[in-house]
Amino acid sequence: MLSFSRTRSPGRNTSPLAGGMDYLEPKRKSNVLGRLILIVSLTALCITMLKNAPSFTSPTSFSRSQEGVTHVLVTGGAGYIGSHAALRLLKDSYRVTIVDNLSRGNLGAVKVLQGLFPEAGRLQFIYADLGDAKAVILHIPKILLYEVDKIFSENAFDAVMHFAAVAYVGESTLDPLKYYHNITSNTLVVLEAVARHKVKKFIYSSTCATYGEPDKMPIVEVTPQVPINPYGKAKKMAEDMILDFSKNSDMAVMILRYFNVIGSDPEGRLGEAPKPELREHGRISGACFDAARGVIPGLQVKGTDYKTGDGTCVRDYIDVTDLVDAHVKALEKAKPRNVGIYNVGTGKGRSVKEFVEACKKATGVDIQVDFLPRRPGDYAEVYSDPAKILRDLNWSARFTNLQESLEVAWKWQKSHPHGYASS
Ligand SMILES: NC(=O)c1ccc[n+]([C@@H]2O[C@H](COP(=O)([O-])OP(=O)(O)OC[C@H]3O[C@@H](n4cnc5c(N)ncnc54)[C@H](O)[C@@H]3O)[C@@H](O)[C@H]2O)c1
Ligand SMILES: *[C@@H]1O[C@H](CO)[C@@H](O)[C@H](O)[C@H]1NC(C)=O
Ligand SMILES: *[C@@H]1O[C@H](CO)[C@@H](O)[C@H](O)[C@H]1NC(C)=O
Ligand SMILES: *[C@@H]1O[C@H](CO)[C@@H](O)[C@H](O)[C@H]1NC(C)=O
Repeated sequence: MLSFSRTRSPGRNTSPLAGGMDYLEPKRKSNVLGRLILIVSLTALCITMLKNAPSFTSPTSFSRSQEGVTHVLVTGGAGYIGSHAALRLLKDSYRVTIVDNLSRGNLGAVKVLQGLFPEAGRLQFIYADLGDAKAVILHIPKILLYEVDKIFSENAFDAVMHFAAVAYVGESTLDPLKYYHNITSNTLVVLEAVARHKVKKFIYSSTCATYGEPDKMPIVEVTPQVPINPYGKAKKMAEDMILDFSKNSDMAVMILRYFNVIGSDPEGRLGEAPKPELREHGRISGACFDAARGVIPGLQVKGTDYKTGDGTCVRDYIDVTDLVDAHVKALEKAKPRNVGIYNVGTGKGRSVKEFVEACKKATGVDIQVDFLPRRPGDYAEVYSDPAKILRDLNWSARFTNLQESLEVAWKWQKSHPHGYASS
């Protein structure tokens, strides 16, 4: 499918970008020492944060339901989409608990949110792993051993938005068990806790990768799901578990299948900052920005003879601001014993060539682009039919100008050359 790739240093080709869905990542080894160091530095960081935030919230406001306040658990809230969702929820007066183990997210994003919403009872961050039965959690300021279930018994959640996952198509083919573990199995752990504690609403982050390679475009919600990689399969399995559970439950369920997510907070408070080791295999926008910054020499577009308008692959790019708006609408409209499944896309495909042109204009850099032969496994066109979500939730994409979305993201990128570490 895709078409995109980038060169690292002259002579060395890095993996091609999965422009179609999510992204690629190299094999990575976890190490215990690293984890320990992380925990220790986190403690230090959190203590510093505590000192700097005199009004830091007491956990008790999170443990009781409060009339008129909806408390949302945002798993993966330190990540790209989760942090933007948390910002929107907080702005809309929701009470938010973020659970994230920072394996791929940024504590910096959580700190930005805490700086914006320091009032008691607004935002709480719990460092925990959703997968482990017994996870090390750092519940500011103490370090304790916790189970995921305990997070639920000590907090009164009205709803869960489950973003936490690993999300690199290429990595999923290299290390499938990691995907079934960290997507399917982790979702089961969360779902069990949700069931036991009778959480009323569950919003799930799914993906167009669950459809595989449909023959017919645009993709509607009833398009058969035949995923072609472990990432898509793991997400489909998670969907199936949620749907089966919901049949005998009062829980309201919303499954949102995202297309290609781009952009960042228009006010420049948050951005997309994948860990450096993921960055080099990142998505099309990250690659364009890196090329514009000169971190990589240029972009490689793979395939110019597809049956599309200009011969390059076509994808549906959805701005993260629109995406989180869809989540809030889904949350508001979620009804007990009901399931809503929605595509979240613009309904309009954009070619890789169009994307690159928009990126050049947004960054003001004449990025070098090489056009190469097709890469195996890429398919020509993927885009959504977003009619159902418009009809049911009155949602439609508003930030559909590719160049403008990229300008916003580029502005944050430029002012944060080292991601959240740049201050
Ligand atoms: N980015 C896209 O284009 C896209 C497209 C379709 C679907 N999605 C889905 O959206 C969700 C969010 O994606 P993103 O792009 O923000 O990714 P991300 O990597 O930025 O965020 C995921 C977050 O989950 C956390 N996490 C992972 N495993 C965890 C665990 N076991 N315990 C606690 N925290 C854990 C990570 O630390 C990270 O902060 C994912 O479920 C992904 O599959 C993303
Ligand atoms: C996912 O789960 C596996 C266990 O199968 C674990 O070893 C691995 O570290 C996890 N990976 C990441 C980034 O999540
Ligand atoms: C975070 O969770 C992943 C599973 O998604 C796991 O592989 C990884 O080891 C965890 N990292 C930390 C620091 O707990
Ligand atoms: C639907 O959304 C539009 C704006 O996005 C708004 O003007 C309109 O009032 C909404 N309609 C309903 C029925 O809520």
